[in-house]
Amino acid sequence: MYSLYHSYSMQVSVGSPIQLALTLKLAYRLVYIHSTQPHIIISPIMDCQKHLFSLPNDLHYLNCAKKSPLLKSAEEIGVKSLQRDRNPDDISTEDFFSVQQEVRGLFSQLVNCNSSQVALLPATSYGFASVLKNVNAKKDGNAVIVKGAFPSGYFALEKWCKRNNNTLNVVTHSEELVRLGKDWNARIVSSINNMTSVVLLSGIHWMSGVLFDLKEIGEKCQEVGAIFIVDGTQSVGALTMDVKAFKIDALICAGYKWLFGPYSTALGYFGETFNEGEPIEESWMNRTNSNRFSELTDYEDEYHSDAGRYNVGQTSNFILMPMLREGLRQINSWGPENIQAYCKGLTQPLLSYMDSIGGIYEADAYFAHHLFSFRLPETIDQEVLKQELQDNKIGISVRGESLRISVHVFNIGLTLIQR
Ligand SMILES: Cc1ncc(COP(=O)(O)O)c(C=O)c1O
Repeated sequence: MYSLYHSYSMQVSVGSPIQLALTLKLAYRLVYIHSTQPHIIISPIMDCQKHLFSLPNDLHYLNCAKKSPLLKSAEEIGVKSLQRDRNPDDISTEDFFSVQQEVRGLFSQLVNCNSSQVALLPATSYGFASVLKNVNAKKDGNAVIVKGAFPSGYFALEKWCKRNNNTLNVVTHSEELVRLGKDWNARIVSSINNMTSVVLLSGIHWMSGVLFDLKEIGEKCQEVGAIFIVDGTQSVGALTMDVKAFKIDALICAGYKWLFGPYSTALGYFGETFNEGEPIEESWMNRTNSNRFSELTDYEDEYHSDAGRYNVGQTSNFILMPMLREGLRQINSWGPENIQAYCKGLTQPLLSYMDSIGGIYEADAYFAHHLFSFRLPETIDQEVLKQELQDNKIGISVRGESLRISVHVFNIGLTLIQR
């Protein structure tokens, strides 16, 4: 182990790309050495959970915001579910509904709502389309979104505006400031006015990691009578979310990032205002008689009386749903507060290092420890950096002059560089 450390302890010039990459790598190596010694506590909250995943040992996957790695337990469940399909005779009527209910229950715990207000979706775009289909427009009103919002939400809102003759107000951030959070949040709040029909916002900006003040924005929405739709894809699971406290009307989350579900799953909270709404498709499963298989052709008109009416057809996806349930179980058992605290312990030394080389990141109030970005000093050449990261098996997104880092409990502690 020591030889690994020494092989990286070469001298490099301050602020050069090579130094950044090696710092990250070095940091991991140091903890590999230390973690065999019981007196070194990596996080007071929980130990690293890498043993629950099948990530290669030498890979430093700092890109959970792209996609979470599969839990070993979820993989096992996925394989078993697939094998169960060999003989459909084993699938009971009860099986069509039981996993759905468990998934709804587990998600509701993460966002503080009743499980009846949760819908199972295939993608965030489906969720946004379902919510917006049921949002009434103010005459000649406006809809608010931020600059650089993820396209699934942006396109849905843009279309809604065109159909409803509302103006799309894209709130930009200052081009002059290096820390965007405070000013950007203030701009969002002041852009919401009596003419605002709807606000669609991610809890945290998916690329820059800027944290938005959902409580303040939710309160402003309520004050002016605007529907508040939140994209929780990059926050729910890793950060505390409370639809009641933040006065959120609808919350849509992809399942394959911070919820540790498989791809092609998403979840949505639909507040009670949507309980009489119309779904975007007509699935037999969303009708009140769906669990009475012998009566299906009585063609029941009534949708489920809750958010179940927005479930995607074939809701009981027999392979993906049990895997998603396992991801949610694990997140609930770790707890978002503990995940956030673990990530904080993990990244603190890296922040100090960034301070020392002039890297810029958001102030505390607008910074989340599971997903953040640095504006790198000009001395760092992006292309060389990308190569260095790749060579050192460090999985990070480099976009423009920003470096997006997203970490989780499978990452091992970052310790200060020793040179
Ligand atoms: C904020 C945000 N919303 C939604 C998505 C993706 O959702 P979907 O694949 O369901 O459209 C992403 C993916 O990066 C994202 O960052």
